[in-house]
Amino acid sequence: MSYDALNALLSARHSCRAFRPDPVPREQIEQILSAAQRVPSWCNAQPWEVIITSGSETDSFREALQHEVATGAPKPDLPFPSAYTGVYQDRRRTCGWALYEAVGVEKGDRAGSARQMMQNFALFGAPHCAILHSPADLGPYGAMDTGGYVTAFTLAAQALGVATIPQAAVASYGPFLHRYFDIPQDRLILCAISFGYSAPDHPANGFRTERAGIGETVTWRG
Ligand SMILES: Cc1cc2nc3c(=O)[nH]c(=O)nc-3n(C[C@H](O)[C@H](O)[C@H](O)COP(=O)(O)O)c2cc1C
Repeated sequence: MSYDALNALLSARHSCRAFRPDPVPREQIEQILSAAQRVPSWCNAQPWEVIITSGSETDSFREALQHEVATGAPKPDLPFPSAYTGVYQDRRRTCGWALYEAVGVEKGDRAGSARQMMQNFALFGAPHCAILHSPADLGPYGAMDTGGYVTAFTLAAQALGVATIPQAAVASYGPFLHRYFDIPQDRLILCAISFGYSAPDHPANGFRTERAGIGETVTWRG
């Protein structure tokens, strides 16, 4: 594969926040999963495990998750960032505002932004959800390896015309997810990836995020 082809794939992938209900054929999901398995991991431990929901299982999960959000309290297995400051706060705000502008939520409209946030727990209407977990013993390194898996999953999906969105928001309800999916306590639930076919004309899909130039992230020595 050429650099240009890879770069085109990386540039085409984006997080999808409105899906059509049609399911992705099992064979294509297996292709995505097989490709994602190729990522590197420390000691080749391949610590990720994935639960994939389809059909009525996705709908039941969506309903149960929304009920949990309405009645329970967030408690992620992996503590959420304590603060976004400086340039990280700026980038976070920029992407949040781009989303709210796209869906017509004005600055200061807390009810509107909360409504959009709640779409996370409706899985943005996706027909499938992947729940990703790794061994607690591997700590942040299991999470790091699984981060690579998330990237490969989303790119392989993009190559097949399947839209994705990684979601930390879903992982904020750790104890519920452990119970619901019978995930042992010695595993950390890291994130979800909702996926399916994009509803491209939906306003929530009407913006793209930017990236810093390498001048902001790289220090050259020598
Ligand atoms: C680990 C991870 C967790 C994320 N969690 C959420 C989430 O809970 N809700 C959401 O709307 N987007 C989530 N995103 C998507 C990011 O906001 C998105 O990747 C970022 O803004 C860059 O935009 P792009 O994916 O369209 O290129 C997550 C992305 C990653 C990698």
